[in-house]
Amino acid sequence: MTSDPGSALQHRKRRHIDVCLTEAVDYQTVTTGLERFRLPYNALTQTDLDSVDLSTEFLGCRLRAPVLIGAMTGGAALSGIINRNLAAAAQQLGIGMMLGSQRVMIDDADAAASFDVRGVAPDVLLIGNIGLAQLQTSMTPGLAAALDRVGANGLAVHTNPLQEAMQHNGDTDFSGSIARLCDVAGEIGYPVMLKEVGHGIGAAAAAQLVDCPVAAVDVAGAGGTSWARIEQFVRYGEVRYPALAEWGIPTAEALTGVRRLLPDMPLVASGGIRTGMDAAKALAMGAQVVAIARPLLAPAVESVDAVVDWLQRFLEELLVCLHGSGASDVAALRGLGVTELT
Ligand SMILES: Cc1cc2nc3c(=O)[nH]c(=O)nc-3n(C[C@H](O)[C@H](O)[C@H](O)COP(=O)(O)O)c2cc1C
Repeated sequence: MTSDPGSALQHRKRRHIDVCLTEAVDYQTVTTGLERFRLPYNALTQTDLDSVDLSTEFLGCRLRAPVLIGAMTGGAALSGIINRNLAAAAQQLGIGMMLGSQRVMIDDADAAASFDVRGVAPDVLLIGNIGLAQLQTSMTPGLAAALDRVGANGLAVHTNPLQEAMQHNGDTDFSGSIARLCDVAGEIGYPVMLKEVGHGIGAAAAAQLVDCPVAAVDVAGAGGTSWARIEQFVRYGEVRYPALAEWGIPTAEALTGVRRLLPDMPLVASGGIRTGMDAAKALAMGAQVVAIARPLLAPAVESVDAVVDWLQRFLEELLVCLHGSGASDVAALRGLGVTELT
């Protein structure tokens, strides 16, 4: 594929998409850790599969299933197509969606069109996005305007020190970033969710959030897409530092670590969530919802139907997981817990 003309940022975003579509960008040795747990199976379930209820609530919005499309893109022309296909699928299925970083939209008003999805997704829970490394308290009004413009229900702030460190000219100064996050979260007038990009928010980071007014945390753990790997492909054309590409807190460990430190915090489980069974385990371990990013990229380049097909298979498996574990709804699943394999 060739790159779109436009700003360096748009060009980089396009390179990310191309690399994600053509290279092996998953962790090669690290897994989510979810395979170490079993969802309890109940041969005497009293549920009727046709009546199992996947609906839930997240950030004040009702969802037909506890699933979000993960933050991916915006800016480049192709991003507009991807975002609209994802959003239309989310609308059909009644699930939520995170937009990719809106930094490009703050720098360049023309890029805003690629984030305009409300026309095809009037009812979805829509979460805007910005990088913690770029976040300044002075940006709050511009950021609020960007969220207003796309009709977002909330803002995800992604923290990505490893990704930025692997990136040519990345933003590597994270000093003072917790204070800026807390300031923006307290001021912006939208619920703010902190997320990683696939290297994991674990117990150490959660301990630093105890007094921060964030509304949710997406652990975005290791075991799925490795952004340290993607950035090395983009920068060097190869993985020069494999140990850094494999670094992160596996999703299951991130989830249990954050849940322990922040018992009441709404949590998103993401990073390598690939099946309905992965989702069921993550929900039983205390997540409110799960999010899926890269598996939806190729379908989103193709069509709305391709995205819906992928997600429908996922949701069908999740439904059977609830039924077979004796959970008639998501709240019952959350109460089940999981069995650790020895
Ligand atoms: C093409 C692509 C672009 C992404 N862009 C963003 C972004 O702009 N902001 C963000 O917070 N996360 C971004 N992510 C990270 C995902 O939201 C997610 O945290 C990560 O890919 C791990 O989930 P996965 O294993 O399901 O892919 C991107 C992921 C992909 C695949």
